[in-house]
Amino acid sequence: MPQPRPDIGNPRRQAAGQAAWTPDLALGILDWFQSPPGKDMTQDELKKAVAEAALEYVQSGWIVGVGTGSTANHFIDALAKMKGRIDGAVASSEASAERLRGHGIEVLDLNAAGPLPIYVDGADEATSHLHLTKGGGGALTREKIVAAASETFICVIDETKQVDYLGAFPMPVEVIPMARSHVARALAAQGGNPVLREGFRTDNGNVILDVHGLRIMNAVELEGELDHIAGVVTNGLFARRPADIMLVGSATGVDKITA
Ligand code: 5RP
Repeated sequence: MPQPRPDIGNPRRQAAGQAAWTPDLALGILDWFQSPPGKDMTQDELKKAVAEAALEYVQSGWIVGVGTGSTANHFIDALAKMKGRIDGAVASSEASAERLRGHGIEVLDLNAAGPLPIYVDGADEATSHLHLTKGGGGALTREKIVAAASETFICVIDETKQVDYLGAFPMPVEVIPMARSHVARALAAQGGNPVLREGFRTDNGNVILDVHGLRIMNAVELEGELDHIAGVVTNGLFARRPADIMLVGSATGVDKITA
């Protein structure tokens, strides 16, 4: 977090004290405007801030759908503050389930929990239409299931994830292992360059092909097409069921975008 600045660097505090105008004061004011609070926040601090902002959408008595990744981890840590008021959580990965349990939050099976009021998760890329690329952590299939089963999907990202078009981030595709080569050829025919994620298995026992080189102009159409390749379990486009609300963390605060 940014360190508190001394009075000399804060024009508001100076004004309150009616300090005399000195070269030091002028330099302090310049410094304050060049480095306002928040400017030096790291990407992880932005993720934490935006994840904490999502708590506002969680109501008492709810079972909360929880995503996967570093931003989702911050959300889990924040959710722990209200663990006595929620009825549990459904996790989109074994890693998130373990973190939730570590905080003493009950983890429920989606089949037992039924439709969820809310799902909170991060993304690798996001457009202003709230279309997303997800799966950087390899949890895309369970993430897509929990998102589909939720009334409201709140996507929490730092501002570096915002893009005009999806595709610069290699799009993950979860594949049944025996279909790896077949699916890779089909993805190449779509103009992509699929690369096997080495040494990685999903929670479902499958492999991931990360597809480089796509510039996705119609995410809704491509998501449907990729789902029809035999052997594809899930692709990392979240456009048919996009986010409902996107919270974006930046140095100036958390912005809310809705479709
Ligand atoms: C995991 C995901 C994550 O939401 C995505 O990779 C973003 O991760 P992070 O919050 O660590 O930047 O889809 O499968």
